Amino acid sequence: MAPVSFLLTAFAVVLALFAASASAEKETHLRFYFHDVMSGPSPTVVRVAEASTTNTSATSFGAVYAMDDPLTEGPDLNTSRLVGRAQGLYVCDGRDSLSLLMAMNFVFLDGSGYNGSTVAVVGPNIAGVPVREMPVVGGTGAFRFARGYCQAQTYSYDVKTGDAIVEYNVYLRHP
Ligand SMILES: *[C@@H]1O[C@H](CO)[C@@H](O)[C@H](O)[C@H]1NC(C)=O
Ligand SMILES: *[C@@H]1O[C@H](CO)[C@@H](O)[C@H](O)[C@H]1NC(C)=O
Ligand SMILES: *[C@@H]1O[C@H](CO)[C@@H](O)[C@H](O)[C@H]1NC(C)=O
Repeated sequence: MAPVSFLLTAFAVVLALFAASASAEKETHLRFYFHDVMSGPSPTVVRVAEASTTNTSATSFGAVYAMDDPLTEGPDLNTSRLVGRAQGLYVCDGRDSLSLLMAMNFVFLDGSGYNGSTVAVVGPNIAGVPVREMPVVGGTGAFRFARGYCQAQTYSYDVKTGDAIVEYNVYLRHP
C-alpha cells in the first residue's frame, strides 16, 4: 500500500472509532429540589468563616458557608423522597452585588437510582437572576467523565429565616 493511502485508511479507522465512542455517549437529565435550611435546631448550612468587614457589607462579602443540603424528588422536604445531598461550600464573592461561588458535590443516594455516584459543580450563583447556570466539572461512579451544566431556580425563599428551596436541573453527557 502506498504510504499516503495507508495513512488515509488509518485516519478513517481512527475517525470510525471516534464516531463509535461519541455515539455511545449518553445524555442524562436530573431534576431535584435542594433544601438550604439555615434556621431551627439542625441547620443544613452553617456560616464557618467571614472577614472583619463582612458584617457591615450589604452583600455579606467574604462569608463562607458549609452545607450538607438534602436533595429531594419533589419540593416538599417532609414528604418527598430523598435522592441525595449537596455537600460543599459557598462563598459570598460579590463586593457590590449578591453573588456566590458554589463548590459542591451532588452525592446521590439509594432513592435516586445512582446510589454512591457524584456530580461536581463549581460556578457562580448570582442572586436576582431567575435561572442561574453553573458548570458541571466532573463526576464519579455512573457519572465518570461527565461534563455539562446545571440550572438553579428558586422555588421558595423565606426572608425571615433565610431558608431556601431551589429547583435544580442538571444536564450531563457521559459515557
Ligand atoms: C458578625 O455577626 C455574627 C452574627 O451576629 C457574629 O457572630 C460575628 O461575631 C460577627 N463577626 C464580626 C467579625 O464582627
Ligand atoms: C415540615 O415539617 C416541619 C416540622 O414538622 C414543619 O414545621 C413544616 O411546616 C413542614 N413543612 C411543610 C412544607 O409541610
Ligand atoms: C448505597 O450505597 C451505600 C454507600 O456506598 C451502601 O452502603 C448501600 O448499601 C447502597 N445501597 C444499595 C441499595 O445498594
